[in-house]
Amino acid sequence: MTNHYIVTGALGCIGAWVTKLLVDRGDVPVVFDLPGDRRRLRELLGERLEEIVFVDGDITDLTALENTVRETDAHRIVHLAGLQVPFCKADPARGALVNVLGTIHVLEVAKRLQLDGVVYASSAAVYGPPEDDLAAAPDENSALEPSTHYGVFKRANEGNARIYWTDDGVRSVGLRPLTVYGVGRDQGLTSGPTTAMRKLVRGEPSTISFSGATDFLYVADCAAAFLACVDACPDGAPVYNLSGHSVTVEKFVDIVGRTARQMGIDTADRITIDGPALPIPGAIDGSAFASAYPNAPKTKLEDGIRETLERFVELER
Ligand SMILES: NC(=O)c1ccc[n+]([C@@H]2O[C@H](COP(=O)([O-])OP(=O)(O)OC[C@H]3O[C@@H](n4cnc5c(N)ncnc54)[C@H](O)[C@@H]3O)[C@@H](O)[C@H]2O)c1
Repeated sequence: MTNHYIVTGALGCIGAWVTKLLVDRGDVPVVFDLPGDRRRLRELLGERLEEIVFVDGDITDLTALENTVRETDAHRIVHLAGLQVPFCKADPARGALVNVLGTIHVLEVAKRLQLDGVVYASSAAVYGPPEDDLAAAPDENSALEPSTHYGVFKRANEGNARIYWTDDGVRSVGLRPLTVYGVGRDQGLTSGPTTAMRKLVRGEPSTISFSGATDFLYVADCAAAFLACVDACPDGAPVYNLSGHSVTVEKFVDIVGRTARQMGIDTADRITIDGPALPIPGAIDGSAFASAYPNAPKTKLEDGIRETLERFVELER
């Protein structure tokens, strides 16, 4: 039996991967996003775009979202629509509208229509910068002192999800990725490592504008985690760090270079790193998520990088 899932922000990077995984397993994704470029979905799904239901919708419009859920008889929402750090910085009011009010709309619809589950993207940006290089990777009990509007909005969403559970019994899971990489990651503060890989395949130089350690999460694993949570949405409104592998950008670039050379790509120092560390911890403790969802995939960094480069080579042919 096929099920309908609403995927908000499905034209974006993580949303496109969630959509692909749903199509792969025979379920029907309902893409709820602003009218826009479908390139990320095309790059992952090609002809299979026909198996998707597309709804042009704005997450700031509660009625549009509610009608979409009713009309498609969807019982679960994967909520990924949002504005990333630079966009929230440029326009905090719009950031709050989309990121905070938009998430309230998802939770409100889940309440009104008694949905089976909601999973939404929070972010490791709910944490502030680490005090020093020796600071322990924060877990879900650590202090939240975000240093960006974006992080403050994400923190507010986690609080609102908790209140929707205590007041109205809406079940949800919030996930906090850090630096997602892979095909489709082409905008946002931490997109540099992926855009550098794409440019490398094209033979073009690039500069990654941040340095130091970060947690690199392969986008396929990220999408699989969102689906695992929405399919087995527990009572409550838990929030989990979603970790991949914490390494320095320098090390990531080394692996990219080595892998590219093995694939016969001329690397010739085409990727440079020039910028400060991110205003987010370089590592997050993902053990609570791993205990709650032990079957969620965790692709090795070398394998995620290789898969990404291989797909870029195919796409650039
Ligand atoms: N990519 C990462 O490394 C990362 C890390 C932590 C958290 N997140 C969060 O995960 C979510 C998805 O990230 P992504 O990398 O796929 O982002 P993205 O920027 O690639 O995609 C976001 C999508 O949201 C859509 N959107 C924006 N405003 C909308 C509106 N008003 N109504 C409907 N749709 C709207 C956009 O059109 C876009 O398709 C976001 O909430 C992001 O903050 C991402």
